[in-house]
Amino acid sequence: MTELAEYLKTRRSSLSMTLEAPGPDVAQLNDMLIIASRVPDHGKLAPWRFVLWTPQARKTMHEDLTKLLADKPDMPDPAKKQQGTDKILHAPCVVAVISKATNHPKVPQWEQILSAGAVCQNMLMAANAHGFEAQWLTAWYVYDKDANEILQLEKGEAVAGIIHIGSSSTVKNERPRPELGDIFSIRDS
Ligand SMILES: Cc1cc2nc3c(=O)[nH]c(=O)nc-3n(C[C@H](O)[C@H](O)[C@H](O)COP(=O)(O)O)c2cc1C
Repeated sequence: MTELAEYLKTRRSSLSMTLEAPGPDVAQLNDMLIIASRVPDHGKLAPWRFVLWTPQARKTMHEDLTKLLADKPDMPDPAKKQQGTDKILHAPCVVAVISKATNHPKVPQWEQILSAGAVCQNMLMAANAHGFEAQWLTAWYVYDKDANEILQLEKGEAVAGIIHIGSSSTVKNERPRPELGDIFSIRDS
């Protein structure tokens, strides 16, 4: 097995709350973004963009999202939602991958969204390639219209993933994976 196959067979995310400094420096992050944007992209539309959320921006967003959550008493499980909000503060580096999928005469929106998912996965692997750990998260505020304003999304945009990046020495337990027999079949006629 090649080293790459071995990596792909064993790779795992690290929980964002285990991610500590150091995070990537500017040159490393730049290279990770180049890797992450090298994905299948029907029609060469680049229907996604990246935003680095600096610690200061995350502090501002956290304050605004916490206030918004308090203003929405009907939201189920607010304590869990607050926990999800708090995660935004922890990792040394956080990059949002934003889908800009639109109606296109030839490329269905679904395919553009899938491409944004590929960007997120590439970003995880780019982080690993540079010696970092990472996790792809979302949270309630990704799906809340009012919260989307706090995230400064443009009309029609959606967060595909929030990629938390840093260093971690926490042991990663194996995660159950689907049995191949349950997810693979052969059609021969
Ligand atoms: C779109 C998307 C959103 C996710 N959001 C969360 C989340 O909010 N919280 C969480 O614990 N895991 C979330 N996950 C799962 C983790 O990213 C990941 O699947 C898990 O940590 C194990 O991944 P691994 O196979 O890379 O180890 C999300 C995954 C995807 C694809």
